[in-house]
Amino acid sequence: MGMRSRHPKALGFRCYPASHRSLTLVLWSLAALVVVVNFHLLIIHKEEAESMSTHEIRRSIMRELEVVEEEKFRLSPPRSRRNPRAVRRKGEKKPPTIVDEFLDQSSAVHDMFFPELNTAVDPINGGNDSMYFYYPGRIWLDTDGKPIQAHGGGVLYDKRTNTYFWYGENKDGKTYKAHSKGADRVDIIGVSCYSSKDLWTWKNEGLVLRGEEKNVTHDLHKSNVLERPKVIYNDRTGKYVMWMHIDDANYTKASVGVAVSDSPTGPFTYLYSKRPHDCESRDMTIFKDDDGKAYLIYSSEDNSELHIGPLTDDYLDVTDVMRRLLIAQHREAPALFRHEGTYYMVTSGCTGWAPNTALAHAATSVMGPWETLGNPCVGGNEVFRSTTFFSQSTFVLPVPGLPGSFIFMADRWNPSDLIDSRSDVDAGFVNVQFFEFALKSDKTLWPFGRGVVVIHSS
Ligand code: DGJ
Repeated sequence: MGMRSRHPKALGFRCYPASHRSLTLVLWSLAALVVVVNFHLLIIHKEEAESMSTHEIRRSIMRELEVVEEEKFRLSPPRSRRNPRAVRRKGEKKPPTIVDEFLDQSSAVHDMFFPELNTAVDPINGGNDSMYFYYPGRIWLDTDGKPIQAHGGGVLYDKRTNTYFWYGENKDGKTYKAHSKGADRVDIIGVSCYSSKDLWTWKNEGLVLRGEEKNVTHDLHKSNVLERPKVIYNDRTGKYVMWMHIDDANYTKASVGVAVSDSPTGPFTYLYSKRPHDCESRDMTIFKDDDGKAYLIYSSEDNSELHIGPLTDDYLDVTDVMRRLLIAQHREAPALFRHEGTYYMVTSGCTGWAPNTALAHAATSVMGPWETLGNPCVGGNEVFRSTTFFSQSTFVLPVPGLPGSFIFMADRWNPSDLIDSRSDVDAGFVNVQFFEFALKSDKTLWPFGRGVVVIHSS
């Protein structure tokens, strides 16, 4: 009893040495529990904050696009529609369409889509907010301050060097016609390569495949055509393999060319050209699937259909297998990508250098059958949407670290001065539900191509 009165119940714990140790243990356990719980909460908050910030980035990019569309590219009606009451007299020429005006170097519409050098994106010396944004048509400078020359191109992410390589046609020459009725052209100069760690600042790695000056019988002789070069890496052979469209000035050779290199920055050794599967091949691309198999996709039969066929294991040739796609649909400029087991492809119509309406297609097997979804362009006005924002597809690059997000790369050709063709780099935030909806209902709700800003410096 006396003991009890000396150690009142209210204390709760006995202060003998052994109990003291238990108390300390309990207190430490509690403290540890608090730390663990807090740590866990911290992780949850961080994840939430990260997903929020991705969401925020997307929202602000979309807003930026709207501003670009609304403010920078507000179109006045084409001349043809300015005076609806005007009656055309007999023999009078058809009034120009908006695309005619876009292509006419003397028109104000043309200037709007090919902004001056003083609006160029200069990631190194920009010095103001606009340096962080790219909108289609702006001249994009490399790290030497020179306009990037990589048309009809594609991007390879090289895991060995953690570097992006952008390959494309160097069109840094005079535009002329080989024949009065021929297409506007620039002599073959070669394939340019630019490297980047952040998809924003691009270092010129020079010509990785050069045109041929003297030998007129060579495929790469300057008088010929080299278009749409694409490079993939072969994990088995350790070689970088380039495929490209090889043609003569009249586009009658209709072949593919193959070149190979030990390094992503070349030099590439040109191997040969051929008509794949004994068929004409004009606009083309190659696609490397997740399992390492690669495919050639090309416009054939006078561009009336596309063909697809697997490459050999070394990627240096096609196999005998080929399937015909989009028969009688007259599509070109194919750009393929895969999203969670579904293959998607964007194509253009066949109107030379003039812009036209893109189509998106989908398939559960890359060899087909392919289903046409419709025009994937949203935003802007009808003119923008029906001209792919005055551009033509060339490549789709999955956005690193943002699964389900893609960068749509396209060319805004300037046929009267091909050297001054611009890039159109659009963000495509692919929402899977939109795609599922699109696949089921045949309606396309794929939000890409809003005149976009995608690439942020780190
Ligand atoms: C459209 C193609 O997509 C381009 O690569 C180029 O071949 C032009 N035609 C030439 O007119």
